[in-house]
Amino acid sequence: MRSDRPTWDDLVWGTEDLDLIWEAFHENSKSTAVDDALPNYVVVDWMTRMKNALPYDAFAAIPLPPVAILPPFRLGLGEAILARQTPRGIAPASMSFAMLAALLFYSYGINRPNEATPFPRPLRNVPSGGALFPLEIYFHARSAVESLAPGLYHYNSEEHCVRRIVNRDLSEELACCLFQPEIVRGAALLVIQTALFRRNTVKYGDRGYRFTLIEAGHVAQNINLVATALGLGVWNVGGFQDRALDRLLGIDGINHSSLYLQAIGEKID
Ligand SMILES: Cc1cc2nc3c(=O)[nH]c(=O)nc-3n(C[C@H](O)[C@H](O)[C@H](O)COP(=O)(O)O)c2cc1C
Repeated sequence: MRSDRPTWDDLVWGTEDLDLIWEAFHENSKSTAVDDALPNYVVVDWMTRMKNALPYDAFAAIPLPPVAILPPFRLGLGEAILARQTPRGIAPASMSFAMLAALLFYSYGINRPNEATPFPRPLRNVPSGGALFPLEIYFHARSAVESLAPGLYHYNSEEHCVRRIVNRDLSEELACCLFQPEIVRGAALLVIQTALFRRNTVKYGDRGYRFTLIEAGHVAQNINLVATALGLGVWNVGGFQDRALDRLLGIDGINHSSLYLQAIGEKID
C-alpha cells in the first residue's frame, strides 16, 4: 500500500516515474550473504593472463627516470592536503620529465611483488579491489613537458616507460570533448584515466564496476597530492563527452572507457 507521504523521488524529481538508473546500478552493486565467490584457482588463472598495462608495443618505449631520482617534494603530506584546491585557472608552464615521472609512478606505478597472497599481479602505490588493477593511464602532453614531443601518451607501469601513441598536439580536439575547453588549453598535461572493466568484474560482477570507480578516486587523489607537493595546480574534470574522448583515445567505450581527467599546469590564483 502506498503511503500518502511523498517519497524522496517525489520531492526531488516530481511525481514522474523517471526510472533512475543509478538506483538500479547501486542495487546491483550490492553484496549479499548468498553471493558465490569464484574459487581462487579461477581468479589466479585470470590474473595470470591479464596484462599489467596494455602493451602498445608497436610504439617506441620512452624510459622514465628511475624512481630513485624522482624530484623532491616542496610540501609534506599534511601541507599538500591542506594546499590542494582547484585553482582559478591553470597555464601550460614548463614541467620537467622527472615531475611527469613522479606523477605517473605515484599514481599507478608498481612498487612491489605480490608475495603474501596467491594472486600473481604485482602491487602498486594505490590499493585495488582484489589487486586486479583495472585502470590504464594515458596523458596528453603539450610542448611544455621537458623532453617530450607533443602528443597522446600511454603509461606502462610494468616497464616504467611511456609510449607516444598519437604523434601530434591534440589540444583542440581534447578541448572540444570538455564542457570547459579552457581547462585543456591551460594544461601542460592532461591525465586521462580509463578502465578495462572486465579485469575487475570477472571476479566481482557488478560490484566490480563500483570497485573500479573507487580505485580511480585513489589514483586521482595521489595525482592531486603529488602535483600539489610539486608546486603544480590540478583541475579535476568529470565534465567531458565520454564517447568523443574514447574515439580520440581509440578505445571502444564499452569494455574500455574513459573515466576521469586531471589537467595539470601552473596555478593561476
Ligand atoms: C569527480 C569530480 C569531478 C569534477 N569535475 C569538474 C569539472 O568538470 N569542472 C570543474 O570546473 N571542476 C570539476 N571538479 C572540481 C570541483 O568543482 C571542486 O573540486 C569543488 O568545487 C571543490 O573545490 P576545491 O577542489 O577547490 O576544494 C570536479 C571534482 C570532482 C571530485
